[in-house]
Amino acid sequence: MSWFRELPPTAGLPLSISDFIGNSKESTLEEKLASWLDVPFLQVEASGTAALVIALHSLKQLSPRKTVIVSAYTCPLVAIAVQAAGLRLKVCDVSLASGVIDFDFDQLDSLCTPDTLCILSAHIAGLPSDAAKAQATAKRCGAFLIEDAAQSLGARRSDRFVGTTGDIGVFSLSRGKGLTIYDGGFIVTKDDTVRQAILTARRKLLEPYSASHELSELLGMIGHGFFYNPFGIWALSSTDMISGFDTCTEIDVESARIRSKLSVHSPGEFRKRIASRCMNRLPQALEENWLRAQSRLQNLRRIENIQVLSEANHDQQGTWSLLFLVMPTPTAAEQALEYFSQSGLGISQLYPFALPDYRHLNYPVPPAHAPEAMHLAARSLTITNSSMLKESEFVDIAEAIDRFASNHVSTSGE
Ligand SMILES: Cc1ncc(COP(=O)(O)O)c(C=O)c1O
Repeated sequence: MSWFRELPPTAGLPLSISDFIGNSKESTLEEKLASWLDVPFLQVEASGTAALVIALHSLKQLSPRKTVIVSAYTCPLVAIAVQAAGLRLKVCDVSLASGVIDFDFDQLDSLCTPDTLCILSAHIAGLPSDAAKAQATAKRCGAFLIEDAAQSLGARRSDRFVGTTGDIGVFSLSRGKGLTIYDGGFIVTKDDTVRQAILTARRKLLEPYSASHELSELLGMIGHGFFYNPFGIWALSSTDMISGFDTCTEIDVESARIRSKLSVHSPGEFRKRIASRCMNRLPQALEENWLRAQSRLQNLRRIENIQVLSEANHDQQGTWSLLFLVMPTPTAAEQALEYFSQSGLGISQLYPFALPDYRHLNYPVPPAHAPEAMHLAARSLTITNSSMLKESEFVDIAEAIDRFASNHVSTSGE
């Protein structure tokens, strides 16, 4: 147990005092993000989930089809958003063959039918999946592609940012994701017809402005600015002010939290101004994450029997907010997680279950054949790639992981 020090599970981009008091004549958050990502349309929303709900409603206007295909290893909020949009969910298993978490493309092909409205392709753990291949599959069956880039703002394939290949891209600006407005997200498209549909859907879904909600979000953002450091996180560790990627595993689907994630409203201008100034540091922070990850990856690759996820090709670059490991057995993963549970070193698990297995949350995922996603969920473990983690601490973590990985290969037949 570490006193007075706890690290975040992901390398979020810390706010600084100057973000709160800088020049108000700077470009807006929307302008900066749109120009950086090179997209003609970008709309900031209340959360990544809300952006996804809008995206799904907009595609509903363009097609009578009703089925959305999603990866079996993704955020449960995705399934909840599909349900909220009144659409049917189909779950596709994953494959790690390319080195990142992507669709099992053979299964994806077989799941596509004339009722497929869209494929929702996610870039999990900030690592670019093959959106071009998902788009080709979608095109073959006359469906749209939504890219879920909630965890991957700034990740690239060649010279194109992820989230900008599909018909629509959705991103998260919620805490822990990198750039943050506390709870937030945004939606992008390059297609004019889709843009019109997004604007129409948004007008229909938009809830009345609530000053008290905006005030609590702003206070949350200010608190995030002050407490996003090892002491602050330790002090707040029982709250959810500093979260990583939102796994929503303990949350009742009826809870206020889920309702607020789904609700469509416009984040306040002041919060966006703060993030717009912080955005100036994002490209540099991503570069530093990548560099830090390279040396940490080298260390982890020496460990036999584990798989460490990383970009499929050299022309790609992830966001490297965390390092994603697949342990040799579920027991090895369980024991390592238990060992680190009180360490405060930012060791965590992205999703403890495959999408069809969150049965205790009582939400609508149909049964699916997803053995790879189930294996992955049971054996996965993440290490923060925050600069707050010292290199000596990282070396200790790698040694402990090596021990758990080798014990379990020699003693178990799992
Ligand atoms: C893959 C994925 N999609 C969607 C979301 C939802 O984003 P938000 O938390 O901003 O609603 C998340 C959140 O972590 C996510 O990881």
